[in-house]
Amino acid sequence: MSGTPTSDGAALDVTSLLARLTLEEKAALLGGADFWLTTPVERLGIPAIMVSDGPHGVRAQHDVSDFDGGLEAAPAVAFPAAAATASSWDVDLLQRLGRALGEESRALGVSVLLGPGVNMKRSPLCGRNFEYFSEDPFLAGRLAAALVDGVQEQGVGTSLKHFAANNQETDRMSVSAEVDERTLREIYLPAFEHVVRSSQPWTVMCAYNRINGVFASQDPWLLTQVLRDEWGYEGLVVSDWGAVYDRAAAVAAGLDLEMPSSGGVGTARVLEAVAAGTLTEAEVDRCVERVLRLVARAQVGGAAAEGGTYDEAAHHALAREVAADSVVLLENEGGVLPLDPAGTGAVVLVGELARTPRIGGGGSSQVTPTRVDDLLTELGTALGERELRFAPGYALADDAPADEVARLRDEAVAAARGAAVAVVHLGLPDSWESEGYDREHLHLPPQQVAVLEAVAAVAERVVVVLTNGSVVEVEPWRRHADAVLETWLLGQAGGGAIADVLVGAVNPSGRLAETMPVALEDNPALGNFPGEGGTVRYGERLLIGYRWYDAHALAVSYPFGHGLTYTSFAYSDLAVDVLQDGAEPRVRVALTVTNTGERAGKEVVQVYVADEQASVFRPEQELKGFVKVALEPGAATRVEVELDARAFAFWHPVLRRWTVERGTFAVLVGASSRDVRLRAEVQLAGEALELPVDADSTAEAWLAHPVLGPRLREVIDGTGHAAMLDHPESGRMMRAIPMRRLARFPGSPIREEWLESAVQEV
Ligand code: BGC
Repeated sequence: MSGTPTSDGAALDVTSLLARLTLEEKAALLGGADFWLTTPVERLGIPAIMVSDGPHGVRAQHDVSDFDGGLEAAPAVAFPAAAATASSWDVDLLQRLGRALGEESRALGVSVLLGPGVNMKRSPLCGRNFEYFSEDPFLAGRLAAALVDGVQEQGVGTSLKHFAANNQETDRMSVSAEVDERTLREIYLPAFEHVVRSSQPWTVMCAYNRINGVFASQDPWLLTQVLRDEWGYEGLVVSDWGAVYDRAAAVAAGLDLEMPSSGGVGTARVLEAVAAGTLTEAEVDRCVERVLRLVARAQVGGAAAEGGTYDEAAHHALAREVAADSVVLLENEGGVLPLDPAGTGAVVLVGELARTPRIGGGGSSQVTPTRVDDLLTELGTALGERELRFAPGYALADDAPADEVARLRDEAVAAARGAAVAVVHLGLPDSWESEGYDREHLHLPPQQVAVLEAVAAVAERVVVVLTNGSVVEVEPWRRHADAVLETWLLGQAGGGAIADVLVGAVNPSGRLAETMPVALEDNPALGNFPGEGGTVRYGERLLIGYRWYDAHALAVSYPFGHGLTYTSFAYSDLAVDVLQDGAEPRVRVALTVTNTGERAGKEVVQVYVADEQASVFRPEQELKGFVKVALEPGAATRVEVELDARAFAFWHPVLRRWTVERGTFAVLVGASSRDVRLRAEVQLAGEALELPVDADSTAEAWLAHPVLGPRLREVIDGTGHAAMLDHPESGRMMRAIPMRRLARFPGSPIREEWLESAVQEV
């Protein structure tokens, strides 16, 4: 990147700049100048670049260099949050969304958009789940990569965050996530890994928390060994805002840029460490070079200086399209939806949220919208001549006086009496869900549930529209609803998008990217969330989300991958072909999907893999492929998904690497994790795993070993030990004894020295 032009036409020659910078200037470059700007070096013409949140809209605070600015920023389009866009299961849509975000960033002078967030939804209580995609790493990784591609196509960088194991807000700046390596590799790292490998985000943002005791910002295993050496990451690692404890230790671990400014503390620490010889200048240079490359990249993209414009109306329309494709129709008994604008009888809309929409979650991802559409206005337009009555039904404030609560409820009942359909918009108020703290339960405000019950008693049919950043329990009130629409946090155009789905202008095609459990008590992290005494133990290991509910055969309210449409689809003719076998298998899955209903619609075909013969514990099934297809009524298409080695592999806890184990795998194709329509088996040669055997391995392992087994037989043949190990009843118990202990038993024909030398020879 050396010799790349800056916006004013001058060259930013990274190599020569590195040679001309003083140590003091270098140390300063490793930290921000203020809240959003990197440090400039005017003497050498190194400009500052601006970074901003992220992830679902640009929050550019131009004249704000500290906390005083609050969260207000220059207006930008507030797109749906990740919880919503994940439900679209649509990589093309995410890429288009990324392009729009990139254009707006450029127009607002932002060089790096701080997102997307690909942390796993370990517990539905996490206050920041709305900013994350899924409980499944495959889905999160694919969607995030598409978003990153879209943004970066515009010459604007992204920041893949929060690396890693940042799955709660409680004690987020210090808690230690106690996670075993296999769980990290299979659940908490793969989304990061995929995005890094496929899209090379300009920056990766380290998490606030510690992992197994080590701050993510100072963890050489995470930031260098895994991220760079294994995954081949080439970009810059930035800290989460305030995540650095000791900049010298962070630089040594591979953290390049501390944000925001630490007021000189970080710079002084680096200088001190270099003077003391605990940090080398070469280590400092490595990070400075990455900072310079980032600045150079931003100049090439032209984001910082060139500015630009964007078509606000087109982006608002895109926000509406993305929002409508993110809505999940959970329930639709008797086809109550879509509402017919030409139908008879009044539609009653109940719920303050329909008039005062909640467009996003609280905290750093908050966007100052360019405008906001509300459901009340939009549904009125969509219904045309059909009568629409409205009652707020409840107050958004938790502490509304009892008489006001009663009055609002009575008004809603009066409005709903005799109505053909009541659309009741329920949801979590802003203060219930935010960055910085977690929820304590999964309930809706009781005030709202009471209104639903009262309205359901007088209206013929009831449609519930939900607004929430992460799942709520539906069982306490589900019986009152004929249809339920999960709309998450849909951004500034959400009102129109919901109206589009309610009247059928858009056929819903969203699918759950997170399980809706029956009750919080069923959740895998129960008892291990949010931890205590500064640590949180990931005791459920691999079993987060559907992996847990499947393994425990638990009923759920709505399973992972679930979502209805106004049409229907049939699956047929599954063909599963091994394209390449061996340690790196490739398998092609192909099937036909037919739209068997009356309307055009989109289906999300989901491919799960189950390892039927595994030498380690494996989840029942795991998502390894998906495709979203649009089909006219009666139309059919052949869908293909290619599965690579990773689709079958697990992280071996002893060998400490990925392996595809020889054996039978099931390929399950369906419309949700619990609606498997087609199934096939595939045999893979994989690897015949041989675990290292030593003197402390069991007799079972020795006897099974191709070389040590026969040798051991020679030594014990005809002895009491052989009789003991081969005994039809007690032999199994005996074979579980480590060889060294057997060697020490009285009368043993085996000697410890022999064991050691046999192992040495092998
Ligand atoms: C959040 C990041 C965000 C940063 C800057 C932090 O508190 O965790 O996601 O990008 O602030 O606002």
